[in-house]
Amino acid sequence: ERSTTRGASAVAHPNIALVKYWGKRDEQLVLPWTDSLSMTLDICPTTTGVRLDPDAEHDEVTLDGVPLAGEARQRVTAFLDLVRERAGVSARAVVDTANTVPTGAGLASSASGFAALAVAAAAAYGLALDATALSRLARRGSGSASRSVFGGFAVWHAGPATGTATDADLGSYAEPVPVGELDPALVVAVVDAGPKAVSSRAAMRHTVATSPLYRPWAAASRDDLTDMRKALHRGDLAAVGEIAERNALGMHATMLAARPAVRYLSSATLTVLDTVLQLRRDGIPAYATMDAGPNVKVLCPRADADRVAAVVRGAVPRGSVLVAGPGQGARLLSEGG
Ligand code: PMV
Repeated sequence: ERSTTRGASAVAHPNIALVKYWGKRDEQLVLPWTDSLSMTLDICPTTTGVRLDPDAEHDEVTLDGVPLAGEARQRVTAFLDLVRERAGVSARAVVDTANTVPTGAGLASSASGFAALAVAAAAAYGLALDATALSRLARRGSGSASRSVFGGFAVWHAGPATGTATDADLGSYAEPVPVGELDPALVVAVVDAGPKAVSSRAAMRHTVATSPLYRPWAAASRDDLTDMRKALHRGDLAAVGEIAERNALGMHATMLAARPAVRYLSSATLTVLDTVLQLRRDGIPAYATMDAGPNVKVLCPRADADRVAAVVRGAVPRGSVLVAGPGQGARLLSEGG
């Protein structure tokens, strides 16, 4: 006889790091070398449903209605194994994910994806976790997902570098960052919506192992975080942008210096960067940041967002431009049998 099934669904949004996470000190536990800080967006949510299926032999995972196979499915199963182990429940699950982010395009679909999966899976398997515990759990799926558990601005603590693995795991989670008066927008220039050639996971590993610029960037990133917290506290958006831009360019410098180089930035990326410089010369405090892909996110005051978006659209007519503001943290949509 079929036992009752439990299920839950959750929604989460992508986040864009203003002080980047780049490099793991522990691959298994997903512990980073440095703290990072991000803004959660109010666009491109991921919605995920998890339903326990006690009769199934494998997890069944679909992304926008298409069944996942191979490594992508294995990543979800490994994450669910963690949840099952903690819950003491062995049942496999049916996981349905609806993504509105171009997957793998450096728009952090893994952040919204694993944040939504953490919230939905914890509820479906009957784990009562607070936001901190959900952030730690989401981290295991994808580091940046730890930050999408929270809305607005969030800092992800690297956690203690000494002590036991348990200490490190418990100490590595995200939490909201207090900010002063700030009305930011993030203009997202999608210059290439295709999947990336090198995963952030592989690129990080290679950068840490071979780039002579990695350690200096990690050290500078600590100061960037201190300065960023102060700038956010003062509500100084121009300073926030300046720090974010230098931190991102430094991260890409570490990759360009890796052996062989990893280069995510394309000629279209540089075209947008030129445009951002011109906007600043014209008196608009616009600043750029890029992740593991060629797309550019431009931070500016919300009041300037339409003008920035129009100028960026003109510069990359083949791209698409989205305007985001600060969004909400991950949340449960429904729960039940
Ligand atoms: O969470 P991952 O493994 O997809 O890594 C994300 C890394 C960056 O997006 C490049 C930076 C960040 O902090 O989000």
